Amino acid sequence: MKYEEIAFKLGVKGQEHLLRFWDELGKEEQARMIGALSRIDWDVLELPASHKQAERGKIEPIEALSREEIARDRSLYLRVGEEALRRGKAVAVLLAGGQGTRLGTSAPKGTFDIGLTRPLYIFECLIGNLLSLKEQTGAYVPLLIMTSEKNDRETRAFLREHGYFGYPADFIRFFVQEMAPAVDFSGKLLLEEKGMPALSPNGNGGWYSSLEHAGLLREFPEAEWFNVFSVDNVLQKICDPVFLGATILSGKLCGAKVVSKTSPEEKVGVLCLEDGLPSVVEYYELPEEMRYAVGKDGKLLYRHGVILNYLFHAGKLREIAKERIPVHMVKKKVPYLNNAGELVRPETENAYKFETLILDMIKLMGSCLPYEVVREHEFAPVKNATGADSVESARELLKQNGVTL
Ligand code: UTP
Repeated sequence: MKYEEIAFKLGVKGQEHLLRFWDELGKEEQARMIGALSRIDWDVLELPASHKQAERGKIEPIEALSREEIARDRSLYLRVGEEALRRGKAVAVLLAGGQGTRLGTSAPKGTFDIGLTRPLYIFECLIGNLLSLKEQTGAYVPLLIMTSEKNDRETRAFLREHGYFGYPADFIRFFVQEMAPAVDFSGKLLLEEKGMPALSPNGNGGWYSSLEHAGLLREFPEAEWFNVFSVDNVLQKICDPVFLGATILSGKLCGAKVVSKTSPEEKVGVLCLEDGLPSVVEYYELPEEMRYAVGKDGKLLYRHGVILNYLFHAGKLREIAKERIPVHMVKKKVPYLNNAGELVRPETENAYKFETLILDMIKLMGSCLPYEVVREHEFAPVKNATGADSVESARELLKQNGVTL
């Protein structure tokens, strides 16, 4: 796009203030600014005026494949899952485009060193898991890593410098997710530099379209299953053959690892039925009476917390690719330039960011196997610096699982 086109578009959208420092920019900065403005998804900006929390349908509990059932049929699931992996039917998708603001480091989360007496990086933990899988099945699983414009270069450089922690580079691909603008509470886009709007990664719900834009779907045509998982669970089991086998044999088009909530208040999305379809309801969306409801067995009725480890069937993903998933507006503290061109670091939330969430894809998949795992063996998220779901709690769980830190 040219300057005139951009200026016209910004005028129509009531965002012409973004060009107020234009004349102070050098040629390169101007080109960079035009590039950034051309890539903005303007549709999300319609939201501040019209945004309403989407009405939830009828919520009911869902049955999960229990740990006991999994133990009973384990050898069958294992055989089917391992065979699928040997035949290249699954790829691993690592979501590493987040900013990790709660952890309080600006470096990519995967580069965080969780070791105590020796370096042990989060990426190293995850790749170690894939190497064990190779030992078990004899096959390398392709690892597709989603980054964002904010951390792509650093992530690639870090993994290259560490020799991909022993994983063959031929089996690793990177792809970059899209960015979304941040707006103040009146809907005006913010500037983070005189020649750059404030942009942030657009959430983890866009992974499939970003994969497609990067041309990676064509590279792995034989992949029938995408195992998508977060960067911050250091006990993550990637392409777990038992999970894969169970999902394949269930005939469902999606699988979700779940853990039993530790308490009704635990801040985790729960898998339920919504209007008869599997769906994830965020903790803040679950009405209080449902949050505390218990069944005849004394267990919470809505206890299946999702841990961001999903299997998605490729055919169904292609089918739903055109559907637009909900955009969530999240209040955040976003540094911005004031009219005098000075950088302001707000102490309270001052802006909305726009994100799509992978958990909203579950309902679109139409069917899903909730698959219960042992929390202490598979769920050690590193979200915060201290307290719950923190570096400390993850270290404790790694130790319990025999990892030397
Ligand atoms: P979180 O929701 O924990 O977000 O991401 P975050 O950005 O890592 O951390 P906070 O909220 O700023 O503290 C869950 C997973 O989704 C990925 C993250 O990298 C993590 O693996 N993610 C999140 C993306 O890949 N892109 C995004 O835009 C957001």
